[in-house]
Amino acid sequence: MTPDDAVRSALCTHMGREFTAHFQYLAMSAWLEDEGLPEMAGFFARQAAEEHMHGMKFFRFVIDTGGPVRIPAIDAPRAEFESVEVLVSAALAQEEQVTAWIDELVHLARDHRDLATETFLQWFVTEQVEEVSTMNELLQVVRHAGPSLLLVEDYIVRRQPATPAA
Ligand SMILES: [Fe+2]
Ligand SMILES: [Fe+2]
Repeated sequence: MTPDDAVRSALCTHMGREFTAHFQYLAMSAWLEDEGLPEMAGFFARQAAEEHMHGMKFFRFVIDTGGPVRIPAIDAPRAEFESVEVLVSAALAQEEQVTAWIDELVHLARDHRDLATETFLQWFVTEQVEEVSTMNELLQVVRHAGPSLLLVEDYIVRRQPATPAA
């Protein structure tokens, strides 16, 4: 069974949210680069790349199930943060919001008896558990570190070997 119009439209809306998350994490990465925190900047650039990949999964799924793909307008991301803690709190809030949206999509797919979409979304249900957990841990580390943000830089190196921030 292929998605009906309401489900397709919701999938395209959510594709836009994943691309919004992509831009938001890129903006966070840029802010962190500017603050002289290259490991955190790299972490957020990697998160940004993941969000792009998430958006592309929706793009591909909508095409594979007959389309049409409609890419929504993407708002400019927040570019200024009062502190690293504020930035990571905003990232955690974003992940929690995305989790709620994915849950809504699963319920919509169920309501429409759309097993293909429900199965497609299972990957995202699992992924969001990981994403929220990762961001929650980073926020705790930032709070423990207080003003010693180089400890956060070390934590990221230990947790995830660095790759250049694109
Ligand atoms: Fe995502
Ligand atoms: Fe995410």
